[in-house]
Amino acid sequence: MRKRLQDRVIVITGAAMGLGQAVAHHAAKEGAKLSLIDMNAEALAQARTEILAESPDAEILTIQADVSDEAAVKSYVDQTYHKYGRIDGFYNNAGIEGRQALIPDYDLDIFKKVIDINLMGVYYGVRHVIPIMKAQQYGRIVNTASVGGIRGVINQAPYVASKHAVSGMTKNVALEFARDGIVSNAIAPGAILTPMVAGSFKQVNPEDPKKAELEFAQGNPTKRLGMPEEVAKVVGFLLSEDCSYVNGQTIAIDGGQSNTYGIV
Ligand SMILES: NC(=O)c1ccc[n+]([C@@H]2O[C@H](COP(=O)([O-])OP(=O)(O)OC[C@H]3O[C@@H](n4cnc5c(N)ncnc54)[C@H](O)[C@@H]3O)[C@@H](O)[C@H]2O)c1
Repeated sequence: MRKRLQDRVIVITGAAMGLGQAVAHHAAKEGAKLSLIDMNAEALAQARTEILAESPDAEILTIQADVSDEAAVKSYVDQTYHKYGRIDGFYNNAGIEGRQALIPDYDLDIFKKVIDINLMGVYYGVRHVIPIMKAQQYGRIVNTASVGGIRGVINQAPYVASKHAVSGMTKNVALEFARDGIVSNAIAPGAILTPMVAGSFKQVNPEDPKKAELEFAQGNPTKRLGMPEEVAKVVGFLLSEDCSYVNGQTIAIDGGQSNTYGIV
């Protein structure tokens, strides 16, 4: 049987860890040719080794880049196009949480950094990938928003603002380029067990992060956190040809938590 992403060229940012890495594993198993982007070169090389151990036939280009630097974004898009001659799917995923603090106390430099990576990085990505997809008259874009892109989250104002903006940008890409065969959606993960979320629980309870994790899980109808592979399966669909009439959506992947009201 033909694999879902067979020979599709997929670019993934933030691919060295967490959700990006999980999607890279999944896409390789589905037959994709990969261009993996991350600012952490060492972790990216490690991720490449692990993907090849699982999918030995995978073609993988790795590029160290900071997504908040537009020249670096243009360069990773150019290098990918130079190697593969097309870009079919773009998982525009790299992002950071920032520090946790109430709005008046928020460190301005960190606030701007969160916006630079989470919003500008996503914008630079679509800005440079869209012309290639438009020329092909085919493309699938998946931006990583968050439940913080559809709800407020106390102590995380810049994160929430940036992720709402990502959700909005996703709609605009859908409206502006639907006639060019480009489909654009966002995902809104809840708490998924990745290094980022582990770091977040460490901020909430430095002495006992596991306790903070278990307490958080109590607010979820499933009483557990999500796993990166559960996100990867959804993204795999959104990056595929099968996703042809779901467009401009922000899809929560959170065990139903964002639909709850009161105690579950
Ligand atoms: N894990 C969750 O529960 C969760 C929930 C909602 C949204 N998200 C979003 O999913 C995305 C991935 O999160 P994660 O949990 O996998 O995080 P993570 O910290 O585990 O991994 C993020 C990866 O992105 C890379 N990265 C960070 N800044 C970068 C930059 N400027 N340029 C290039 N690469 C950069 C890091 O080196 C790392 O490899 C983020 O946008 C995050 O906001 C995650």
